[in-house]
Formats: sequence, C-alpha cells, structure tokens
Amino acid sequence: MINIAIMGYGTVGSGVFEVIKRNQHIVNKKAREEINVKYVLDLREFPGLPVEKVLTHNIDDILNDDSVKVVVEVMGGVEPAYTFVKSALLKGKSVATSNKALVAAHGPELLQIAREKNVNFFFEASVGGGIPIIRPLNECLTADDILEISGILNGTTNFILTKMAKEGKEFGQVLKKAQELGYAEKDPTADIEGHDACRKIAILSSLAFGKTANFEEIYTEGITNITGKDMEYAKELECEIKLVGTSKKLSNGISAMVAPFMLSKNHPLSTVDGVFNAIFVKGNVLGDTMYYGSGAGSLPTASAVVSDVIDAVRHMGENVHIDWIDEKLEILELNYVPVKAFIRAGGDIKRIKTESKVLFEGCEFADLDYDDDEVAIITGQETEGSLKEKLEILRKAADIRNVIRMDV
Ligand code: HSE
Repeated sequence: MINIAIMGYGTVGSGVFEVIKRNQHIVNKKAREEINVKYVLDLREFPGLPVEKVLTHNIDDILNDDSVKVVVEVMGGVEPAYTFVKSALLKGKSVATSNKALVAAHGPELLQIAREKNVNFFFEASVGGGIPIIRPLNECLTADDILEISGILNGTTNFILTKMAKEGKEFGQVLKKAQELGYAEKDPTADIEGHDACRKIAILSSLAFGKTANFEEIYTEGITNITGKDMEYAKELECEIKLVGTSKKLSNGISAMVAPFMLSKNHPLSTVDGVFNAIFVKGNVLGDTMYYGSGAGSLPTASAVVSDVIDAVRHMGENVHIDWIDEKLEILELNYVPVKAFIRAGGDIKRIKTESKVLFEGCEFADLDYDDDEVAIITGQETEGSLKEKLEILRKAADIRNVIRMDV
C-alpha cells in the first residue's frame, strides 16, 4: 500500500479524492499498488463528508509522516504551495501538482531537488488541465527538434471569444454571462488579460527548449480590446479570433508571446470552441500534432493529477528525467519577431488606402458593407518593430481602432 496526501480540498483536490475513490480498481491496477489517501490538508472543515476522516489542518502531519510517499499539491498560488512542496521533496516525497503559478515560478528548482532526492516532481495538470501534453513533450516527442508550440491555453477566454463570434455580442456582455455560469471568476483579470496563458506557455517553452522561460519576459496581451466589429471582419476574412500562447524556434532565436490572433479557418486551432483547450506542436521530423480536450474542471484536471500519482508510484526510488534546467531561455526581443497584422482604421478611406499601400507593400483591404467610415488593412510580413513604426506613421492619416495579429 502507498499512502498519499492531498494538499487543498477545493475544485481540483475534491476531484482527486473522487477519482481515486471512483476509479479505485483501475488506479490500483495501473499503479500496481493500493493507493490510500491518508491525509487531506485544508483550513476548512467538511462536516459529514467522507474527507472528514482524513482531514488535517497541519502540514507537519504530512511532512513528518514517513509513510506518505506522494503528495498532491492542488492549493493554487505560489505561497504557501512553494514552501510546502519544497519541504515535501526535501523529505524525500514525490509531488504531483496542478499549480501553473508554482511551476512557472519555481519549476527548475523543484525539479533539481527531486533529482537530488531521487523522487519526482510531476505537473501534467498545470497546462491544459486534463489534456496530456507535459508527458508527451517529455517522453513521446523527444526525437524531435520542437519548432513550434502554439495553444489555446485558457478556457475562459476561449468561451468568451466563441460566444462573441457566434452570437455577435460584445466582450462585456459575454464576460458577465461567463461569470454567471461560473466559467469566469469574480475577478477575471488573470484569464482575460492573458496572465494564466502566459504562465502556461512559459512552462511549455521551458519543456520544449530545455531551459527556463521567464514568464515575466513573455509579451502578453489579453482579449479585452476585442470587439463585436473585429468579429464581423474575422467572419468576412474567414478567420476566427483566438487567444493564443505561442513559442517558436526562428532562425534568429526563440519567440514567445500571448495575444489574440486571427486564425484562418485552415489552422487546426481555429476549430477549438467554447471552454476547450488545444495545443499544437510542430516537430522537425514528426510534423504537426495537436492535443485537444478539457483544459479545466474538477474531474478532467484530477485525471491528470492522479495519472501523475500513478507515475510517481510506478517510479518509486527513481527520478524520471525531465529535460528542463535552471538556466535562462533567451527569448527574442519582440521587435524582431515576424508578424502579419489586421489593422482596423477609420477616417478618410481614400487617404488611408494610399498611405497603407506605401507603408505596407502588397497589403490588402477589407470592409464591412454597411460601414463607409472604416477600412481594414491586411499587411504582408513585417516584424513587430517595423509594424509599430509604420502604425505611428499611419496614425497621422487614420484613427487606428484595433490591431490584431494574423496567422500564428
Ligand atoms: N482559468 C483557467 C482557464 C483554468 O480558464 O482555462 C485552468 O487553468
């Protein structure tokens, strides 16, 4: 029998408790051990619930119990999760976490402790919830030079953008609806400003390229500026607007960013709707692959966490190598990153078109039948730097209403 502890009995923690109970037979068979939840750590009481029997409010009960071999961390946030996880690893316990903030901020240090202690630090659920992506990157795609990882990494924003596109509603209206349905949090900042997706693409970039991508260096733009009108243009251009986290190996370096993109309907990520997530990976020999599924939610996320627990039990006394070291991944300065853009501009249309043709060689135009006061410019290939400079010039002739990147 292997004793485990679950730190945090919230949405994911209660899911982990449930999955281990509901799929007990399968979980034990796959682990080739009986998995027993000895402790659940939470500050709250849960009177009358089965969890009550194993509930503790004291982290030391877990840390000082040598019979606990695997600790599940599903509290969220950096502290006290970091202190608890580090202590558990130092005590020789393996850890499975769903906590992207923790992994993005301290992943390489915790991985190094796990190596030194011959235990494991697993984090399958930290990106894409229940979608297998961490293990595929670390175990299945190891023969490839990864050229690109691009993903719809946030269900809340994908739900909002899908509803805006399908129902012609404005951002604020749909956000309110998402909050009522429980898809968006009361304070939705981390989701709608792209911070959640930023931590996830930082983790994926670190795994793909083997060094630590600092999430604070990743250019991040959320979806709050996307309007119903942008959606109308997207429809006309046969595109979908999606919040994409993307990281690429370019000839001049590794790029990483989070931003809304207009994706052509041929792009596999353009078909991912609602709360679903998907991660597109391009390898130099494998070509294109995509991983799709539930990126959040109690049971889907718990499924990934419990799979990590099983893996930790299978590798008791052996560290599974995760190719991510505590060295800085150099991220290409934004100005040098290639970009193609959709620019929505109002004013004297004839003048805007003349200026645009000079600035953006070979650019194309789109407009909405009912609106004579506005035109959209589709640029050719630029760099972020040249785009910024040319937009400043265009601004003298036009009221620039929005700029959205195209074709991730
Ligand atoms: N807030 C996140 C999302 C939850 O909307 O995808 C999973 O990290």
